[in-house]
Amino acid sequence: MSHSLVTMSYIVATILFIFSLSGLSNQETARKGNYYGMLGMAIAIIATALSASVTSYTILIVALLIGGAIGARAALKVEMTQMPELVAIMHSLVGMAAVLVGYANFMDSSLSLSGVEKTIHEVEIYIGILIGAVTFSGSVIAFCKLSERISGKPMLIPGRHWFNLGLLIASIVLGWMFLQETETGGGSIPLWIMTGIALVFGIHMVMAIGGADMPVVVSMLNSYSGWAAAATGFMLSNDLLIVTGALVGSSGAILSYIMCRAMNRNFISVIAGGFGTSGGEAAVVEGEVTPINADETAQLLLDAKNIMIIPGYGMAVAQAQHTVNEITKLLRDKGKKVGFGIHPVAGRMPGHMNVLLAEAKVPYDIVYEMDEINEDWGHVDVSIVIGANDIVNPSALDDPNSPIAGMPVLECWKGETTIVLKRSMASGYAGVGNPLFVLENTRMLFGDANATMQAVLKALKG
Ligand code: TAP
Repeated sequence: MSHSLVTMSYIVATILFIFSLSGLSNQETARKGNYYGMLGMAIAIIATALSASVTSYTILIVALLIGGAIGARAALKVEMTQMPELVAIMHSLVGMAAVLVGYANFMDSSLSLSGVEKTIHEVEIYIGILIGAVTFSGSVIAFCKLSERISGKPMLIPGRHWFNLGLLIASIVLGWMFLQETETGGGSIPLWIMTGIALVFGIHMVMAIGGADMPVVVSMLNSYSGWAAAATGFMLSNDLLIVTGALVGSSGAILSYIMCRAMNRNFISVIAGGFGTSGGEAAVVEGEVTPINADETAQLLLDAKNIMIIPGYGMAVAQAQHTVNEITKLLRDKGKKVGFGIHPVAGRMPGHMNVLLAEAKVPYDIVYEMDEINEDWGHVDVSIVIGANDIVNPSALDDPNSPIAGMPVLECWKGETTIVLKRSMASGYAGVGNPLFVLENTRMLFGDANATMQAVLKALKG
């Protein structure tokens, strides 16, 4: 394929990636956005494969087959709830690729650059390896934390900010040494040492961040992986990789910012670490809970006019979205006003609840963002909290010592009655007790969310 045709294909792929991002920003257009992304990627791969820079088709085909098989297997096997782990480990591969491409470029003796061009290329290599190594080790630790292979608790070493500063200064000094030594054909020792430092920095950075802040870490690593890809693009003089990397890098940074705002976190404080705790321990809340059964729940729903459903991580675990949709249809047919309130960090990944509801074919126009409904709880007769916990925790607003203090939550307790569906009194992801469960107007419907929703559906059908 001629050079100009490859460039044209890259421009088309870039435009499709931009369409893809814009499509993904809204759930009604998300499917189309995905198709644009897939088409753009197919064009990018085909154009690259047919370009003059490919010298061995055997290596390319073997790599494509191995990578494609691993990717397809992972995508088929992964549960929706394990998606953040999968994303984290995929980011680590982008980081590793940047490191390997960096070293390959460094060792490539066929390049005959000189003067400023040579220096720029060496800076690209150094920065590419630096970002790649941080992304790689940070993503591996994020994967281990998310999959509970290691504790989600923040690991805080004494003087950690000084330690980080020391690593940063060492990387800058080593960078200068690297540039000096490459003049005489050396440079490998500062490069190796810097790689080690960057790996330690990635591990330390993510180890210091607590469980409740992991969503921000995943999107931040997403951003890093974009910049690592862009750095690879500079090393390989591949414009498409530069643009795509920049798109991923900036969209990941914007997502991190949006999530920090949704959790009322300061981005710099999250990165500096120390926030958040691990989840899963039994929550201690003072007071008596009021249990309710499926028949009583159905009766409350039949008596209500305005119903709000708040889905959370437990709905994903129970795969209750289809039963929830059936109940919604039935209640709407009976003339009830039913809405869904979605918290920006409900579940375990951005848009998790929207994906599940779209899969169950819940109409988009009754699905509301937190900001759209948080003023209106006074008009809600019954809200049903399905496997959610942290996102409806009043202590986020009342208790300044809570690990989730300041995180905006869905203030469902301001409605007339709240029914909470969960299996036990266990805490959610942030590992904090939830006083909502013992409020006077809260009823607890214990059991697996799908089983209890099925029982409610049966009772509603009479
Ligand atoms: P959580 O606070 O984690 O609470 C989920 C609740 O679901 C648990 O208390 C659990 O209680 C219940 N549950 C689990 N399986 C269930 C089942 N089969 N049936 C019924 N209930 C079940 O979830 P949330 O309220 O959605 O909040 C999300 C949390 O995850 C936030 O802290 C957020 O920061 C964090 N996080 C979010 C993301 C993103 S980007 N969305 C990524 C990583 C982490 P039982 O065990 O008693 O049933």
